[in-house]
Amino acid sequence: MNLILLGAPGAGKGTQAEVISNALNIPQISTGNMLREAVKNGTEYGLKAKEAMDSGALVSDEIVIGILKDRIAQDDAKNGFILDGFPRTVPQAEALDSMGVKIDKVLEIYVPDETIKQRVSGRRVCLDCGATYHINFKPSKVEGICDKCGAKTVIRKDDMPETVIDRLNTYHEKTAPLKDYYSKQNKLETIVGQEEVAETSKLTLKAVGVN
Ligand code: AP5
Repeated sequence: MNLILLGAPGAGKGTQAEVISNALNIPQISTGNMLREAVKNGTEYGLKAKEAMDSGALVSDEIVIGILKDRIAQDDAKNGFILDGFPRTVPQAEALDSMGVKIDKVLEIYVPDETIKQRVSGRRVCLDCGATYHINFKPSKVEGICDKCGAKTVIRKDDMPETVIDRLNTYHEKTAPLKDYYSKQNKLETIVGQEEVAETSKLTLKAVGVN
């Protein structure tokens, strides 16, 4: 199954992508994680992407489409994948179509902007493996330490309140039109993100046919 997760920054795409990935045994492909890795490693892509990411803007379609194309060609994506954070513009969605990638379902996780602002302020991410936590809703077992790899968890640079507002504006302007794009293809299903991660996961799993 090839899935797309749509939703505003902090809506819970990464959290739910992990749940679906475990349930269906297909990889979570997060362009945000791949770009952060490229920034950390100082690659050519990373250097170009850093400024846009830090300011809450989108990285150019050209860079992101290139990264995505290479990733979905890898062996582990042959039996399906979950795109988390891609496409984010209509040209990115068109690029996916023109690559001949068949998308089975697009899940939108809807969360109001005000809730997102509160949520993102509590997010912590692992510096090493990128795992995501929340100080109240999904805490790590030991505060400040990743459960998965033992590295430190930190506040993401783009989770500063002013940057979150810019990211939300970018989402409404550039990414929200994709709802229309996929609705016309009869692929869009919207889930209302709940207060508890586990409650949202139940809805997400049901939407992808896992009960
Ligand atoms: P990216 O990493 O994709 O960021 P994003 O879309 O802004 O999404 P987030 O990772 O912030 O949030 P999420 O929806 O995954 O939420 P999460 O599960 O963590 O992209 C970063 C940047 O890279 C972009 O700004 C852009 O510059 C660039 N980029 C990436 N892809 C691109 C593309 N295709 N084109 C161009 N540029 C691109 O949850 C958030 C928090 O809430 C967590 O702490 C979590 O524990 C908690 N939480 C989750 N669900 C719940 C719940 N139900 N109740 C309570 N808390 C919850």
